[in-house]
Amino acid sequence: LKIDLISHGDIPHLTHLQPEGWMPIQPYYEFYTQSHFCNPIKCTVDGKIVGIGCSIVHGDTGWLGHIIVDQGFRQQGIGTAITGTLMDFLMKRRRLKSMLLVSTPMGESLYRNLGFQKESEYVFFKGGITPPAAEGHIKDFSPAYRKVGLELDVYASCEDRRKLLEPHWENACFIEAKGELCGFFMPTLGEGFILATTSHSGLELMRKKHCGGRFGVLPAANQIAIEYLQDHGFAEYRRGIRMVKGQRLQWHPKMIYGRIGGNLG
Ligand SMILES: CC(C)(COP(=O)(O)OP(=O)(O)OC[C@H]1O[C@@H](n2cnc3c(N)ncnc32)[C@H](O)[C@@H]1OP(=O)(O)O)[C@@H](O)C(=O)NCCC(=O)NCCS
Repeated sequence: LKIDLISHGDIPHLTHLQPEGWMPIQPYYEFYTQSHFCNPIKCTVDGKIVGIGCSIVHGDTGWLGHIIVDQGFRQQGIGTAITGTLMDFLMKRRRLKSMLLVSTPMGESLYRNLGFQKESEYVFFKGGITPPAAEGHIKDFSPAYRKVGLELDVYASCEDRRKLLEPHWENACFIEAKGELCGFFMPTLGEGFILATTSHSGLELMRKKHCGGRFGVLPAANQIAIEYLQDHGFAEYRRGIRMVKGQRLQWHPKMIYGRIGGNLG
């Protein structure tokens, strides 16, 4: 098997790998090829791209994402070879405490065979609509939010994702209580990232996100957010399995009112 880095010129040749029901993969690979903390790879057979995947490094944690094998080439070990290459890259080049990924049911046994263990689940919802957020509560970006917002993210994720979040602060919106930041919503990051320290602020930001009917993916641990979507007509349509190899992170999934994506949790 021939495995190489993906370059910008490969992006138009990934269309046939798009899995049904996933957000379009090409913009993600565009981002991966442009970001120095990402390592996108391809597996080619007779010059055709038959499998892809990417590793993403945040300080001492690493993620594997968008591992996809062409339907006609599955069950031949290509998915395992791509995942193994990405894992080697993370282990050799960086000292990591944990490797993480969100698996589909299809990928779970492959990742188990490579030493990943199930940690928790994400639940996908669609089909409903919420009322809009109350006027006046939600504020636009101001520079002071960047530092404290990042601190909230470090606490919630137990990762240092500053490089990932950096381009999105100015498009984000924020909620304060008693002069303290208690939540933010980044509509341009992945599926629409929402983090909040109180359920009141989390649900307010969810109204901002879902009043137009946008789908949402929540950690299974955030029952308050899940019940809120269910009460507004959303129904579960899929689950993702969060898996880890190495140290389990002391993250806080109850603070997540909208995850970033399958590639980043
Ligand atoms: C998940 C996915 C990447 C797996 O790719 P793949 O190339 O089929 O993976 P592998 O061939 O390495 O392994 C798949 C199975 O085939 C088996 N296999 C590997 N080589 C084989 C061979 N030569 N003959 C028979 N079976 C083989 C593996 O043991 C594994 O079995 P298991 O599922 O019982 O553990 C692929 O199904 C896919 O692209 N799915 C859609 C996207 C997706 O769900 N991605 C995962 C999300 S991160």
